[in-house]
Amino acid sequence: MPPRKPCVAVYPGSFDPLTNGHVDIIHRGAKLFDHIVVAVLVNRKKSPMFSAEERVTIAREVFRDRPNVEIDTFQGLLVDYVKHRGANAIVRGLRAISDFEYEMQMALMNRRLDVNIETVFMMPAEAYTYVSSHLVKEIAALGGSVDGLVPTFVETQLRAKTRAAAARAGGPKP
Ligand code: PNS
Repeated sequence: MPPRKPCVAVYPGSFDPLTNGHVDIIHRGAKLFDHIVVAVLVNRKKSPMFSAEERVTIAREVFRDRPNVEIDTFQGLLVDYVKHRGANAIVRGLRAISDFEYEMQMALMNRRLDVNIETVFMMPAEAYTYVSSHLVKEIAALGGSVDGLVPTFVETQLRAKTRAAAARAGGPKP
């Protein structure tokens, strides 16, 4: 029998920044697939808090001990990137019912664009069902604690960004 083709999944997202919810999904995906590519969206129209390079550096640092987790960037259509990587599946995290409508729309649209690519939904641990990059940024910007919501490395980076923003605005350091 010819050797089995490795089962590769792409986990796409903005990851601005990477949260413990994302980390949880990546660990689960890395157990399920031979190889998982965390694909950081480069969106020149949006102005993210962290540049694509910074988001990649963070994710590489967090997953430096996981050989089957690869961090890459992508732009353009997700299905084109998935095909280009020879992947079989797209992984997305589903936290709550509120995620479902948007995720279903994307999954079905991606299927319409390429019928051979499946979307696999994974649920994070309950502790992360309410964690989002958006809220984490807001809490950090207002001087709140994001301890336990993001990896320690992200926490440090968030603090540096928040301090830099406060210094630019001439306000107190959070
Ligand atoms: O973390 P996010 O912001 O929810 O991720 C959204 C992402 C990157 C998966 C989505 O915006 C995307 O796939 N963008 C690439 C452009 C594309 O393929 N659009 C059509 C999707 S149906």
